[in-house]
Amino acid sequence: MKALTIVGARPQFIKACMLSKAFKSYPHIKEIIVHTGQHYDYNMSDVFFKQLDIAEADYNLAVGSGTHGEQTANMLLKLEKLMMSVKPDVVIVYGDTNSTVAGSLAAAKLHIPIAHIEAGLRSFNKKMPEEMNRIITDHLSDYLFCPTDYAVENLNKEGIKQGVYRTGDIMYDTITHFKPFATKHSFLLDNLKLKEKDYYLATVHRAENTDDPTRLKAIFRAFQQLDKVVVLPLHPRTKSKIMEYQLDDLVRSPNIKLVDPLDYFGMLALAAKADIILTDSGGLQKEACMLQVPCVTLREETEWLETVESGWNKLAGADSQTIIDTIQNIQRPTANQSLYRAGAAYKIANILLKEF
Ligand code: UD1
Repeated sequence: MKALTIVGARPQFIKACMLSKAFKSYPHIKEIIVHTGQHYDYNMSDVFFKQLDIAEADYNLAVGSGTHGEQTANMLLKLEKLMMSVKPDVVIVYGDTNSTVAGSLAAAKLHIPIAHIEAGLRSFNKKMPEEMNRIITDHLSDYLFCPTDYAVENLNKEGIKQGVYRTGDIMYDTITHFKPFATKHSFLLDNLKLKEKDYYLATVHRAENTDDPTRLKAIFRAFQQLDKVVVLPLHPRTKSKIMEYQLDDLVRSPNIKLVDPLDYFGMLALAAKADIILTDSGGLQKEACMLQVPCVTLREETEWLETVESGWNKLAGADSQTIIDTIQNIQRPTANQSLYRAGAAYKIANILLKEF
C-alpha cells in the first residue's frame, strides 16, 4: 500500500507521528509524507518533526502564508501535480486545516481514496474556517476515522454512514507515548520561575478571537486580572495581531509571561503542572482532559463535548468577567476515569491495510 500523508500545521504533526510509527511496523506499507509548508517557522514545524521522530517530509511544498483562498489554492495546484506523479493508493489527511481541505480536494478530483483522521467533528459554527474545512473533507472522504461517538453521530446525521470507523483519539496515543519525555522537560518550570499549580497556561490563536480586537482585548483583560501568573506561548498570528491592534501594554502586565511557541515536550510539561489551562485550541482542550488538568475554553462552543460533559472543560467565551468567574469557580471532577483509550493508530493502520 502506498499512502500519501499530507500535513502542514502544528497539530497535524502531533497526530501523524503515531500513525507513521504504526505504518513502519508493516513492511507492505510505504508512507510518503508531504508537508504543505502551511507552518514553516522552526518552532512551529521542524522542532515537532525532530521531537516526535517523524521522518523528514519527502516533499515540502513551501506554500507559506496567505489569505485562505490563496493558501488553499496554492496547495491544491501543487498537490494535484504531486498526486498525479506519485499515484498513491490512499491519501491521508488530518483534522481541519487548509492543508486538510486542499489535500482532500486534490485527491477527490483524481479519484484517489481519502482517509480522514479526526473525522466527524463539528462546532456548528460555519464562520470558523476549520468548520468549513471539516465538512468538505468529511463529505469527500472514503474512510472516516472518528475519535468519539459524537463524531460518528454527526456524520450519520449528514448522511455519511459508509466507511465510518470509531477508532478513538490518535492524540491520546501521542500523549501516552511521549509523556515520559515531557516529564524530563519540567526544568522549563524552573527556567520560567514557576511552581507547580501556581500558574495558568494559556493559548490564544483561533481566528474568531485573534481577528476580532474586542474579543482579543477582553481575553487579555481577563488574564491581566487573574490571581496567578498566566504563561502565554504566543502563536505567530496572535503576535502580529497584538502589534496590529496595539495591545502591547495590555499583554505586558506583570502577571502575564509571554513566551515563544513551545515544542511538544515543553507544552506537555507546562500543561501537566498548570493549575488551569485557558485556551481556544481544540487539541489543548483534549490534552488538558487527558492530563486531568481543568480547562477553561475561550470559545462559545466546542467540538469536544465529552470534555465538557466529564466536567474537565468549561466554556467561557471571550467576555472578561465570564472568564474570571469561570476560573474562580472551577472545581476538579472527582471521577478520574479516563475518557480515552490508546490504540487508534494501530486500528487505523489495520483497517487501511485490509483495504489496500
Ligand atoms: C492553523 C489552522 C488551525 C490550527 C492552527 C494550529 C487553518 C484554517 N487553521 O491556524 O485550525 O488550529 O493552524 O496552529 O488551517 N505564521 C508564521 N509562521 C508559521 C505559521 C504561521 O509566522 O510557521 C503566521 C503567518 O503570518 C500566518 C498566520 O501565522 O498568516 C496564521 O497561520 P495560518 O497557517 O494561516 O493559520 P493558523 O492561525 O496557524
